[in-house]
Amino acid sequence: MAIISDDEGLEKRIKKNPIVKSETIEYDNTFESSIRPKDFDSYIGQTSLKETLKIILEAAKKRNKPLDHMLFYGPPGLGKTTIAGVIASQMGVEIKITSAPALERPRDIIGILMSLKGGEILFIDEIHRLNKVAEEILYPAMEDFTLDMTTGKTQTAKTLRIPLPKFTLIGATTKAGELSSPLRDRFGMIHRLEFYTIDELAQVVQRTAKILEIDITEEGAKAIAKRSRGTPRIANRLVKRVSDFAIVKYDGKINSEVANESLDILKIDEFGLDNTDRALLNLIIEKYDGGPVGVETIAAALSEDVRTIEDVCEPYLLQAGLLQRTPRGRKVSPEGYRHLGKNIPSLQTRLFDTED
Ligand code: ADE
Repeated sequence: MAIISDDEGLEKRIKKNPIVKSETIEYDNTFESSIRPKDFDSYIGQTSLKETLKIILEAAKKRNKPLDHMLFYGPPGLGKTTIAGVIASQMGVEIKITSAPALERPRDIIGILMSLKGGEILFIDEIHRLNKVAEEILYPAMEDFTLDMTTGKTQTAKTLRIPLPKFTLIGATTKAGELSSPLRDRFGMIHRLEFYTIDELAQVVQRTAKILEIDITEEGAKAIAKRSRGTPRIANRLVKRVSDFAIVKYDGKINSEVANESLDILKIDEFGLDNTDRALLNLIIEKYDGGPVGVETIAAALSEDVRTIEDVCEPYLLQAGLLQRTPRGRKVSPEGYRHLGKNIPSLQTRLFDTED
């Protein structure tokens, strides 16, 4: 399991075509695009973000000016790409979607910038992975809407300033801390997306079930929501998986028993942890006395890559209080021991009380 992009599959589509236009994504028949909300009313959760955005959007419309550049960060699957799409459709503008790893060569970013029209949104996923050259091309583009290009050799070099239309850059990242500060400083708005509550996820599940014509009770939706790790992308995936079970093993309708039984069979426990999460906690407990242990060691022992551990597994384990991050590595918390039904060693208990 190698995580490449926040939006699975997006990077592959982008590698083929560095600019994936919004139409391509919408008409692209993927499961995610078919259920993606298109306006603020159908976008559930992230209430404070939506309220802030509504004001920013209205002000921009009244001033007849493009939106400020925005940076969204947070764990994968919380709706960073989706909210960018909502912003574009609420503003009635096009959105061009790409990802930093697809912008390897200067001409990739130059090509995209030159293809933009006034007011359009450029969405760059995984913006923390942008290389230095691409970043330096972006600075004047973001600040002065110009493309500064140098042509010729050192002594005869000429700088060309090409004006660009006023566009809005929306960056998304799972790692805001890895963004260089000059890039971070050029965003007018920086917002962290939060994990969703069970009630919000239950609403996401019901909305998706309705679109996909899946019969589900309120309790069934709540049972799925509880095991979705605060993440709508996971909730949406689980609705489909549980619906498959409901059709094959039951009468097609999802109630709480059907949901719980199906998720047990899928080995998704009542905290939403899957085999990899449990293997990670087990490894630290069994092989490293509960930790601390470095993430590279964990990744190698589980045959996973470090980014999958850091971006996919850890954020929720940390938020759920099952894992702790210390300067010397990761430790399983007393709650993590309890969750796996393991005894907490007494020395371990004392170590938890000491600050690293
Ligand atoms: N599907 C994925 N994220 C969603 C959200 N925030 N609201 C509604 N449906 C979604």
